[in-house]
Amino acid sequence: RERTYIMVKPDGVERGLVGEIIKRFEQKGYKLQALQALQPSRQHLEQHYGDLKDKPFFPKLVDYMLSGPVVGMVWEGKDVVRVGRVMLGATNPLASAPGTIRGDYAIDVGKNICHGSDSVENAEKEIALWFPNGTLQYTRSVDKLIYE
Ligand code: GTP
Ligand code: MG
Repeated sequence: RERTYIMVKPDGVERGLVGEIIKRFEQKGYKLQALQALQPSRQHLEQHYGDLKDKPFFPKLVDYMLSGPVVGMVWEGKDVVRVGRVMLGATNPLASAPGTIRGDYAIDVGKNICHGSDSVENAEKEIALWFPNGTLQYTRSVDKLIYE
């Protein structure tokens, strides 16, 4: 089944939104496969956001992401890459629908609280980058109440 990498950015961690973000993915029914709090290195962030390195905002983005600890997680479930991004909301929080994480808790694009992988392929790359020792594998009996 599909997996995605969700990361609470430094502003989300400092604002105490880690639990809220975990709660939303948990209550949706997705399965937690990995969770870590860490101070990311510049090298990790430049690799993570490598596709954006030619964007004018890239240096600012890296500084933002270096400004404090992040909490990274891997969630597994049906269509979780696409649905995870719906749950986060649009990149610019002023365009994010109410009810989404960014729509409910953020205002500026440069302080938008959370990251979610944008494709299945990139999700697997990001999971390998942030969790080089792998993730959990376990079965949940509750899956039979979540999936038909
Ligand atoms: P992520 O989940 O963080 O990857 O966001 P995204 O996929 O919705 O957007 P994208 O990958 O294009 O951009 C990555 C991050 O760069 C965004 O989440 C923003 O924090 C930041 N960013 C994107 N566009 C801008 C911008 O125009 N100005 C600034 N300051 N930051 C931006
Ligand atoms: Mg992105």
